[in-house]
Amino acid sequence: MLYATLKTLHVLAIVVWIGGMVFAHFFLRPAVAQLEAPLRLRLMQDVLGRFFKAVFAASLLALATGLWMLGRVAKQVVQSGGQFQMPLAWTVMAVLGVAMIAIFMHIRFALFKRLSRAVSAAEWAAGGAALAQIRIWVSVNLTLGVLVLLVTLMRWSA
Ligand code: HEM
Repeated sequence: MLYATLKTLHVLAIVVWIGGMVFAHFFLRPAVAQLEAPLRLRLMQDVLGRFFKAVFAASLLALATGLWMLGRVAKQVVQSGGQFQMPLAWTVMAVLGVAMIAIFMHIRFALFKRLSRAVSAAEWAAGGAALAQIRIWVSVNLTLGVLVLLVTLMRWSA
């Protein structure tokens, strides 16, 4: 029951994170591209600020629940006298998951800070450059996330 609850939380956290990236990248960004820079950058800074708070919580929740599930399964195998061998899909998920969190932290604490500073100072060229960087790294994270989903849900293994 606890395992199933944590797995559900794990997947819900991922839904918020991946779903939000899809929305921002494919729907919000093209729609606001037509706006003037000051309005566009203020709007994106506000929307991303709210979204990144949710991603911060979701990414840490995914990490904590994922590590807990790993530990739980490994412990059970060892206690029953077996030797724990991590499935390849889990290894891929853990490694790429940690990479995604590191990339998110870079987006949130370096690039988004740069965007916020530029918006406060009304430096629209600098703001546009920071937003373009955020877009690139969000698409990297989206690609990694979809890859993890494919490997995990399609049960790909060596
Ligand atoms: C941050 C490090 C992560 C760790 C340590 C981790 C670990 C785990 C573990 C141990 C399970 C349980 C698998 C099972 O009981 O069958 C699981 C399930 C799952 N994880 Fe992760 N995970 C991480 C990140 C991610 C990411 C980034 C994604 C997607 C982008 C993801 C998607 C999923 C999905 C969809 C399941 C359910 C799989 C199923 O039931 O078929 N995880 N994760």
